[in-house]
Formats: sequence, C-alpha cells, structure tokens
Amino acid sequence: MPAIVLEPIGVEAYVRDVLPHTFETWGEGRSFERYADDFRAVATSVYGKRRPFTVALREDGELACSCKNYDRELRFGGRSLRATGIGAVFTPPQLRGRGYASIMLGALLDAERAAGRDLAFLYSDIHPAFYERLGFVRLPSRLLTVRAASLDGSPAGALPLTTSEWAGVRRCFEALDAERTWSLRRTPLVWDWMRDRWNAPIRNGTQPVHLAVRRARTVIAYAIGRRIPAQDTFVLDDFAYDGDEGRAKLPALLRAAAGDLRRVAGWLPPLPGRDVLPRGSVRSRRDAVFMIVPLSPPARAWWAAVKDQTLESRADPTWSSDHI
Ligand SMILES: CC(C)(COP(=O)(O)OP(=O)(O)OC[C@H]1O[C@@H](n2cnc3c(N)ncnc32)[C@H](O)[C@@H]1OP(=O)(O)O)[C@@H](O)C(=O)NCCC(=O)NCCS
Repeated sequence: MPAIVLEPIGVEAYVRDVLPHTFETWGEGRSFERYADDFRAVATSVYGKRRPFTVALREDGELACSCKNYDRELRFGGRSLRATGIGAVFTPPQLRGRGYASIMLGALLDAERAAGRDLAFLYSDIHPAFYERLGFVRLPSRLLTVRAASLDGSPAGALPLTTSEWAGVRRCFEALDAERTWSLRRTPLVWDWMRDRWNAPIRNGTQPVHLAVRRARTVIAYAIGRRIPAQDTFVLDDFAYDGDEGRAKLPALLRAAAGDLRRVAGWLPPLPGRDVLPRGSVRSRRDAVFMIVPLSPPARAWWAAVKDQTLESRADPTWSSDHI
C-alpha cells in the first residue's frame, strides 16, 4: 500500500519544488526571483508563520499536490468564526487527473475541522465546479469598471498617506466594516500583511497610490490602488470612509487617485462602500471566484442566516485586498 500523507512543506522546499511550476500561472509579470522573494516575504512574516503556511500531499515521499493555508477570522455580528484560507492548489502536470487534489483538499478540510476551524474559503482560478464537488459554495465575485469622468471632479484635498496614518486608515475601515452583517476581520497582523503587499505591487509598470482626505489631522477617507498607465486604468484595491463628510469626499478622492487615467476598476466592493461608487459596468470574474464551505455547526448556522442576502447582494462579500 502506498503511503499518502498530508504534511507541512518548508519555505525553501516549496520554493524549489513548487514555485517553478506555478510561476507561469501566478507569476504576474514578475521575475522568478521576485516571485520567490514575494512568497518568502509572506511565508516568513509573523502572519505567515503563525501556522504552516504551505502543506503538501506526499505519496511515498513524492510531492503529489500542495497548497497554501492561512488563518482568518470571520466576524458575524459580534461573534467570531475561525476561518481557514486555502490558496495555490497545485498538482504537478504529470500527476493530474488521479485524484490527488481532491484527496488533499478532503484531508485538509478534515484536519481543519478537527482543529476546531469553523469554515474554509478559497479564491478559485479554475472552474468552480471542481470545488463545488468538495462542498464549497460559490459567492458573488464580480469586477466593476467606472469612467473616471463619472466621479466628482471637485478638489478632494487628497494627499499621500504617511506612515504614521495607518492607524487612522484602520479606524476608517473599521467604521465602515461595522455596518456590515459579516466580513473577514482584519487583525493587526492581517493589516501588516496587506500593507507590505500594497507597498510592493506585483505587476511591473504599476504605480502604487495611497491617498487620504483628512479633517483636522484625522483620516476621514482613504483609497489604496495602483495606476496602470498602459491600461489607462486606476485599479482600486481598498477604500473606506468614516462619517458623512468622508463619504461625500470619496468619489473626488478616487478621481484624484485616477489622475489622468480614463478608468477606475477593481473587484466589486462590499456594501456600504459599493453604493458610494457610480453604477458603472459590472461583470463576473473568471478567476479569484470566492468560495466557502462551513465545517462546524456555528458556521452552518451563520451560513443559513446570511446565505440569501449574501448570494443576492448587489455588492460582493470580500475586498480584493483579502485575496492571497
Ligand atoms: C486544478 C488542479 C489542482 C487539479 O489537480 P488534480 O490532482 O488533477 O485534481 P483531481 O485529480 O483531484 O481532480 C481532477 C479533476 O479536476 C478537475 N479540474 C482540473 N482542472 C480543472 C479546471 N481548470 N476547471 C475545473 N475543473 C478542473 C477536473 O474535473 C478533473 O477531472 P478529470 O481529469 O476527470 O477531467 C490541477 O489541475 C492544477 O494544478 N492546475 C494548475 C494550478 C491551478 O490552476 N490550480 C487551481 C487554483 S484555484
């Protein structure tokens, strides 16, 4: 009988055995060295080190399938559910179609359930039917594009964010997030991880934009994104506002962030932020389709309570910043 085991795989073993194969799919224009360094940066960050960040299914010692695995919390009203994120599911090409990915994900979900995690989620880059067979449910995952000219053109008074203002950004986000029924909670570690990524955008030829509007010295609205001149687009990754004044300033802030670029585009943001943007053009994403599977009775109760409003919502449930 061949021995099949699911076990952690170390950072350098993953760089050596997995990344050369996934580079073509997920390299996003980076050099291999940069791709590997970006992986190392997350895997060895405080956030990535809280648990084995990468796991592998091995058959008789040979790597048969692997994925990333990380913790998030899901906030539902005042309660917390322990969520496990799964990413970069990968089977070496010569071993595909033999059930390895299905076996690995089944074993991983069992282990996560046994470890007390309430639900699992992932962002599927393939046809979601594969994950639906394993019990995952597809959640609304859309892209929004608006014309920059459709945004308020009056001066927003926006200035670049300074390092000392990240606490203000966080407070703004939390003010907006508190209005939602449920969301992926951003702990301080998650904020650190997001900030690192925002500061080092993946694609070449992109210019990070981190802008904020203040009242007195308090951040009342912010926008994080990337200007991509070659696509005439400002890609919006994250924004929030606190209070009516911040809300009123947001469209002009985004217009300032877009500068002379014609489009503002990004994942369809969650409510209530979505309603501050023009209707624009909305279409389904083909990749990064958000999927969840409840693992525990509290998670099943959560899903029963939020399912209809989540599936029918005019906005999406997660920010692109949550995508790992
Ligand atoms: C997707 C992947 C992990 C599946 O691994 P696997 O070990 O072959 O999976 P299994 O043997 O358990 O299941 C095979 C089934 O996966 C499904 N599958 C494979 N690729 C798929 C795709 N692009 N869309 C939907 N289903 C797919 C098929 O139904 C296939 O069954 P078939 O061979 O009878 O047609 C593998 O194809 C891979 O590494 N792809 C490249 C990386 C990638 O895109 N990963 C997904 C990230 S979300």
